[in-house]
Amino acid sequence: MNTSLQTRLFAAITAIGGYVPQNRRTNNDLEKVCDTSNEWIIKRTGIKERRILEEDLATSDMAVRAILNMVQAYNKDLQDIDALIVATSTPDMLMPATANIIAEKLGLKSVWAFDMNAACSGFLYALDMGASLIETKRYQNVLVVGADNISTYVNEQDRSTNILFGDGAGVVWLEASLEGGIMDAYLRSNGSGREFLNIEAGGSLYPLDKELMSSERRYLRQDGKAVFKQAVQSMSDACLHVLEKNNLTIDDVSWLVPHQANQRIIDAVGRSINIAEGKTLSNIEYLGNTIAATIPLCIWENIKRMKTGDLVMLTAFGAGFSWGASLLRWMA
Ligand code: UT7
Repeated sequence: MNTSLQTRLFAAITAIGGYVPQNRRTNNDLEKVCDTSNEWIIKRTGIKERRILEEDLATSDMAVRAILNMVQAYNKDLQDIDALIVATSTPDMLMPATANIIAEKLGLKSVWAFDMNAACSGFLYALDMGASLIETKRYQNVLVVGADNISTYVNEQDRSTNILFGDGAGVVWLEASLEGGIMDAYLRSNGSGREFLNIEAGGSLYPLDKELMSSERRYLRQDGKAVFKQAVQSMSDACLHVLEKNNLTIDDVSWLVPHQANQRIIDAVGRSINIAEGKTLSNIEYLGNTIAATIPLCIWENIKRMKTGDLVMLTAFGAGFSWGASLLRWMA
């Protein structure tokens, strides 16, 4: 069979939803608990506030709300879903997977549901996995969620992390299309980066006990400077790699949606790949870094600006290290 004559089947995003908690943690709130200032945080990160989930709720609750938001907005039928992939580093429990809990809360009794942990790159990893399921034609309606309740793991007094992170959830619905959709992706990881950004305690290596519960090791810790430098380099390289592989230039891209970790990182990536002003989307100012949720939330909030046929570049970097870039044709 001459495969070159076959029409390519794409996985297209046909619906999108999001959810952020009501509670705001402002820079003024942080000034009261640690030695920082509103001016410093805005100048060094671009962040003014983040959303914090209520203590009795968990990652699955935000994901369910994001999914219901999407289903309502796009008039979708939940019963059509045959696979649910949840990118999260903050599962409700170590097991079962948060995807199973979300499916149960939505009344989905026989969906293929599983989690994927790639920290801040999780949504891009899960999106490519979801696209592959559609491309094989074994699945017709795949949900890809990025959701994190990271505030549970942030030490409220630690100014090196409390200024950056917030909670949220975003979701996209993938379906087959002959017109366009996920065009390509470049995803990578390097485990030697784990010492620079991690939550050490609570896994099988360092199970939580009384001592660890009151130690710094139960919180998210990072070497901000090392992560910053690597993030700019890796996201820029990934975007340029995908462009070159697809014989495109940066001028072909309508929108760049980068992971939202620090406005200075976002700006540095934009400069490095030479994207025109006004094409880079950002919502970090009022949401901070929501880990796996940043990219779907950023698209969701800017949905009115995207036109059918627009070429969109997504890029992320996070713990692992993990990083990558995805290129898609906007079809919703
Ligand atoms: O998704 C991936 C996850 N994480 C990231 O991508 C984070 C990447 N890193 C960053 O965003 C930045 O490195 C931070 C925001 C964490 C820190 O910003 P920075 O510009 O790298 O600051 P720094 O650590 O170099 O500190 C500069 C100065 C120091 O004071 P001196 O030594 O110059 O007197 C710090 O002690 O700022 C001080 N400082 C602060 N001051 C007020 C550090 N943190 C704070 C703070 N408030 N929160």
